[in-house]
Amino acid sequence: MSHPADILDWTPEGQPRSRLYGDVYFSTEDGLAETEAVFLKGCGLPEAWAGRDRFCVGELGFGSGLNIAALLDLWRRTAGPEARLHIFSVEAHPLSAAEAARALAAWPRLAEATGPMIAGWPGRARGFHRVEFPEFRAVLDLAVLDVAEALAGWGGRADAWFLDGFSPALNPAMWGQDVLDLVAARSAPGARVGTFTVAGAVRRGLQAAGFEVDKRPGHGRKRERLEARLAGEAPARARPRVAVIGAGIAGASAARALRVLGVDPVLVEAEGLGVGASGNPAALVTPRLDAGLGPVARLAAQAFGRAADLYGQVAGAVVAAGVRQLASGERDTGRFARIAE
Ligand SMILES: C[S@@+](CC[C@H](N)C(=O)[O-])C[C@H]1O[C@@H](n2cnc3c(N)ncnc32)[C@H](O)[C@@H]1O
Repeated sequence: MSHPADILDWTPEGQPRSRLYGDVYFSTEDGLAETEAVFLKGCGLPEAWAGRDRFCVGELGFGSGLNIAALLDLWRRTAGPEARLHIFSVEAHPLSAAEAARALAAWPRLAEATGPMIAGWPGRARGFHRVEFPEFRAVLDLAVLDVAEALAGWGGRADAWFLDGFSPALNPAMWGQDVLDLVAARSAPGARVGTFTVAGAVRRGLQAAGFEVDKRPGHGRKRERLEARLAGEAPARARPRVAVIGAGIAGASAARALRVLGVDPVLVEAEGLGVGASGNPAALVTPRLDAGLGPVARLAAQAFGRAADLYGQVAGAVVAAGVRQLASGERDTGRFARIAE
């Protein structure tokens, strides 16, 4: 999976178009209206999350983030004051923050959602990236991976899915039976699916994966769109009660992450926050630079990026960034080039 420097063309109207797939990221007529009709309404939102404490939305094809910005906006206007939204999205060829900002500038009415999204725009490193939206009581986990690998590596269960992976004729890999089976396996009972395509292969694929499929009147120039649903009802779940034992860096970080997800843990610690280990009021985080693309290298890169993000958000913290590692021979020169890539 490569990231060519220019994966986009821009139409004269200022809309992004993929050079890799030869398709548009959203409707050239009115992308936001299409998002609302095909994905939000198509998944029965906001009615489907009424009365729910937590709700999870999955998306195949993060692109410019337009669908997710519209989702965040709707969530903030309609969900209960304590409810939490978990978003999982997949993107093999991420746009840069500047490209997304250019594409999303067409919808100033979404600025309260697109602003924080662009400010926290995930990096391009392969793996999972978390972005928190505290003002929306929401978190986004973006998998920068090919779709099948992303779905296989995600442990969640979505209540709604936005299938938005370019036209099936131009990008069949995003709609294969393996992918649709994984979507079903990562769905909660009663999960809904919305998509713009009514291609026969997609309808049959969703049915084979266990969904009941319906064609609905489409949006704009598209005559029809698709809604699909799994049998069953999402189980009512009590908010979990969690105790974290030990307020060292790992325990305190786990407590913080739980709070972001809407769980208020009890933190048990005999002395004080971070007094164990060296007890120094400073943290030194160094990246483990690994030329491989295996799971360990990926985890280390993700953890380093996440730590740098989080420490950067602590008010008053002094964050000194920068590690310089010098090559000590020709072997290192080649290795460092591979890491940088
Ligand atoms: C129509 S665009 C998504 C538009 C997006 N939902 C938005 O709101 O802007 C489809 C996206 O799917 C991504 N994509 C295509 N094939 C993929 C694959 N095999 N795995 C993961 N992502 C893929 C593309 O890079 C592109 O960003």
